[in-house]
Amino acid sequence: MRINLYPGTFDPITNGHMDIINRGVNFSDKLIIGVLNNPSKAPFFSVEERVEMIKEVTNGLGNIVVDSFSGLLTNYVKKNHIDAVIRGLRATTDFEYEFQMAQMNRKLYSEMETIFLMTKSEYSYISSSLVKEVFMFGGDIEDLVPAKVVDYMKIKLNNKMEGTK
Ligand code: PNS
Repeated sequence: MRINLYPGTFDPITNGHMDIINRGVNFSDKLIIGVLNNPSKAPFFSVEERVEMIKEVTNGLGNIVVDSFSGLLTNYVKKNHIDAVIRGLRATTDFEYEFQMAQMNRKLYSEMETIFLMTKSEYSYISSSLVKEVFMFGGDIEDLVPAKVVDYMKIKLNNKMEGTK
């Protein structure tokens, strides 16, 4: 049984992430999507909301489990007997950061394996932070994230605005 982990912040999940999940599930008996719980980053969505959203948009795609984690990725990998961590690479700009992370993770845990998937070119410019920026300024994000995520974002923004009134 091959268990792979796709970790990330997913604030929010984008069509680029969905591409990696759709392909990653094909070579995993079980694919765990691990949402980083990092309150110090002041995310748009809480970790619970991100987990709920990802469960909804990945429902029916295969043997996928959505979980959250805090602390070191390598600790989660050890504890859950993960065979490999999957990460998407959009462009050469991602490479340096990903290379450093993969090397650091291997330094922390010598059995750690990272598999990189090249994001399909049509998603190569999409990032969660740009999606949030475009959305906050009223731009159209329909092609960038799953439809349900657009709904979640509208509700969240309304709630946030009501909270500041
Ligand atoms: O979606 P992101 O923000 O690019 O994901 C980054 C993530 C969550 C994979 C990375 O920040 C991480 O693994 N954080 C957990 C803390 C950790 O292990 N840090 C050392 C990594 S070298």
